[in-house]
Amino acid sequence: MAKQKVVVTGGAGYIGSHTVVALHEAGFSPVIFDNFSNSKPEVLDGIARIIGEKPQIFEVDCRSKAELAQAIEACASDGQIAGVIHFAAFKAVGESTERPLDYFDNNIGSTVSLLEAMTAAGISNLVFSSSCTVYGQPDAIPVDEQAPILPAESPYGYTKQACERLITDAFNSSMPLSACLLRYFNPIGAHPSAAIGELPLGHPNNLIPYLTQATAGKRGPLTVFGNDYPTEDGTCIRDYIHVMDLARAHVASIHWLLSNPASCEAFNLGTGEGKSVSQVIAAFEKANGIAVPYSFGPRRAGDVTAIFANAGKAERALGWKCELSLEEALRDAWKWQQKLTEG
Ligand code: NAD
Ligand code: WQD
Repeated sequence: MAKQKVVVTGGAGYIGSHTVVALHEAGFSPVIFDNFSNSKPEVLDGIARIIGEKPQIFEVDCRSKAELAQAIEACASDGQIAGVIHFAAFKAVGESTERPLDYFDNNIGSTVSLLEAMTAAGISNLVFSSSCTVYGQPDAIPVDEQAPILPAESPYGYTKQACERLITDAFNSSMPLSACLLRYFNPIGAHPSAAIGELPLGHPNNLIPYLTQATAGKRGPLTVFGNDYPTEDGTCIRDYIHVMDLARAHVASIHWLLSNPASCEAFNLGTGEGKSVSQVIAAFEKANGIAVPYSFGPRRAGDVTAIFANAGKAERALGWKCELSLEEALRDAWKWQQKLTEG
């Protein structure tokens, strides 16, 4: 029997490329729609080194209904499409405050176009990349899906809230749609082969890419943003999830959609464990046997003190939970950085 296809918008990006591998390993045929605005075609070689073949790819701007319609038609001509996983978006929080219109246009515009193209093609299953940023600073941690959605701190955060809302409104209308809204906590790490990982984008704002580049001597020492927070060691707490575990959650979501038609649910995807920045540094040093150059600095504006997931709903409904440790994620992140350093 022919494999079912899954369209992966943004499939050449960081989380998308790992998900393409996981879909292939689960017996699906992943098809990438990407315009390489934040990725490189070489990622396809990395995927091929892992799965033994280059995935099918359409160079598509997901804001364009016409391009989407054409690619979906070509894709459906020789196979059945089980669903769409929608990663394609801009993701830099700081940049979104400088270029809010680009973020609204790309992130919200592509989601509207995609929903229209899916409806026209009779595809109803959608997995959407959302973020724990929708919760802001929650009143209680671990945070579950019932926690209120707080006013967004950034245009980026607003686009995630707006897309969740527009998907939910479309679901509540007469549109034939089933959706998983996946709220990721802090994805880190890379494929253990180091064939794919997160591509560095200039000055990294996220903790792990900065930490690995600083340790590799490519940047100055890491500044830990604040050690006067009301946490045990004074540094902020987050829920760091291995990108390989996150990728598997997308496969589980496709399976869930196939057996739960006409459903729309949000799921937190995290480990359920909060780790402080100081704990992450110590775990990195232990996992890799190398010292991280760092110093403590002032707080970063907009940082919440502590957030980590109650991911019980995903475990109950999707039959998914994290299997990999923080140490494994940090070992794979360092392996990836070493590969980048070697060129
Ligand atoms: P990424 O930038 O590595 O990947 C995004 C991919 O989408 C890139 O390959 C880019 O070229 C493509 N893309 C962007 N706009 C496009 C468009 N209009 N048409 C076609 N392709 C387009 O980002 P990522 O880290 O893999 O994130 C994937 C998704 O997960 C995003 O929606 C992001 O907001 C969300 N997310 C990421 C994180 C994180 O920390 N990485 C956390 C929570 C949520
Ligand atoms: C983690 C911790 C920093 C850099 C962001 C987005 C969120 C989501 C995930 C997309 C914090 C500290 C960091 C550094 C540091 N992305 N830090 N020195 O802020 O939790 O979440 O990525 O949806 O929307 O906001 O992740 O990796 O930037 O920071 O001390 O150089 O590391 O203060 O406590 P964050 P992060």
